Amino acid sequence: MKIHTYEKLWLVAAMVLIVGIIATITYGTVGLGIAMVDDQEDTISPNDLGEDERFSDPRVEQVGENEYEAYVIAQTFTYQPNPIEVPENSEVTFYVTSRDVIHSFSLVGTNVNTMVVPGEVASITAEFDEPAEYGVVCNEYCGSGHHDMEGMVYVLPEDEFDLTELSVTADEEVELGDDATFEVTVDNGQLDDLETTIELEVGDETFEEDVTVPGDDTYETTFTVDSAELGEDDHDWTVTVDDHTEQGTLSVVEDLEDDEDDDGGDDDE
Ligand code: CUA
Repeated sequence: MKIHTYEKLWLVAAMVLIVGIIATITYGTVGLGIAMVDDQEDTISPNDLGEDERFSDPRVEQVGENEYEAYVIAQTFTYQPNPIEVPENSEVTFYVTSRDVIHSFSLVGTNVNTMVVPGEVASITAEFDEPAEYGVVCNEYCGSGHHDMEGMVYVLPEDEFDLTELSVTADEEVELGDDATFEVTVDNGQLDDLETTIELEVGDETFEEDVTVPGDDTYETTFTVDSAELGEDDHDWTVTVDDHTEQGTLSVVEDLEDDEDDDGGDDDE
């Protein structure tokens, strides 16, 4: 059989095109290192996020020298935590889940953009080379407040970034002569040890304790203050750890009243 030269030419050209198309698709799928959002993650119960170790406390965690993980909850119409703070020169993996309906987690001006589906945990990794601010918006219609659903990611200079958390549980009212206690908890979310000073000021008194909080650990201490030293009055107090402060007021009273009758006295709120 004789095949015309032009026909041969067109046959060859068609074969080259077909092979070319297959090669392009293959390269685009596996050659560029593009990972599809995978669905291998375990599902999670949107109603039990409070019991989930990752999401009960939405936060940023340090997991390597320059590696961080952010656990984020989206719900109508907010993100938690907000703002999300990470340091410059970091690689951050965001794990995002929803407490209610479908949202998205999209960093404006970047290609960080994922759907957030209740029951699923979306994960997406981004590198932040320099200090910046990114708005977080929701791209999935999620209800009447959808257009107001936004958050912020702050990429901070290294010297402004820390993962220290301070919390204080203190007596609000003690009887004159009794001890007032201030339970101070310092949480060090970074991997390096934190050397710092816990300072309590109450009335005219100042108490200090130098502490080393191990990396990724928590330090608890209790300050005990003799209320007789303070005197009967309302005393403002401040607990300071680095740039973090907690404040409150301690009332030292003559007699603690726990009667329930209405004597027309002060109504404490
Ligand atoms: Cu959340 Cu739209």
